[in-house]
Amino acid sequence: MAGELDFADACDDAVGALLATLVADLPAGARVLELGTGTGVGLAWCCSGLGSRRDVRIVSVELDPSLHRRAARLAWPPSVQLLQGDAVALLPTLGAFALVFADAPGGKWEGLDRTVEAVAPGGVLVMDDMTPQPWWPPAHTEAIATVRSTLGADERLRVEELPVGSGVLLARRCQPGAPASTGGARGVSRAGPAGSDRGPGR
Ligand SMILES: C[S@@+](CC[C@H](N)C(=O)[O-])C[C@H]1O[C@@H](n2cnc3c(N)ncnc32)[C@H](O)[C@@H]1O
Repeated sequence: MAGELDFADACDDAVGALLATLVADLPAGARVLELGTGTGVGLAWCCSGLGSRRDVRIVSVELDPSLHRRAARLAWPPSVQLLQGDAVALLPTLGAFALVFADAPGGKWEGLDRTVEAVAPGGVLVMDDMTPQPWWPPAHTEAIATVRSTLGADERLRVEELPVGSGVLLARRCQPGAPASTGGARGVSRAGPAGSDRGPGR
């Protein structure tokens, strides 16, 4: 199966392991959404985290019909649903999810508001590739900054940056009435060793 999943834009192993860990803790009946199936690497990590559990449903959306078909050929558990289409267009029709892995331009760089809406109260949004790299074009670095400031300013979210793989933002959507931040300052908190900062999104 590993050969069939080979795909340059697949999530890295550290992010995949994080996804597997997060899904493993979800309660029965929870739903998971992945935006951008690719060839199914992130999806495979989620399935691996769930093991034999079939009580958590996973929906994965891919725009590219050929990638969708390629992923759909693989033997997924019946709790997995693969959709072909534009994530931004589909998001309002999909309902709310306990975990959303936003890994497509649609829903990440565009339509982020729709993605946040799809995170159920108490749920978590995961976004990778959030640490700017020197070889990335300036427009991409600006897009990352926009995502950081948008999420960091959203009073419903508590946002942590994890030094995992290509850089992960993990945003928990608070239950109604619960404070998103304990420290009063909004923004993106950086998880890390002593001395790491806490403050407005960088
Ligand atoms: C980074 S790759 C996804 C990798 C995959 N999540 C994984 O872990 O292996 C991004 C994918 O998003 C797809 N994509 C691009 N725009 C999209 C959109 N508007 N809606 C859904 N998928 C989209 C691309 O075709 C590509 O397969």
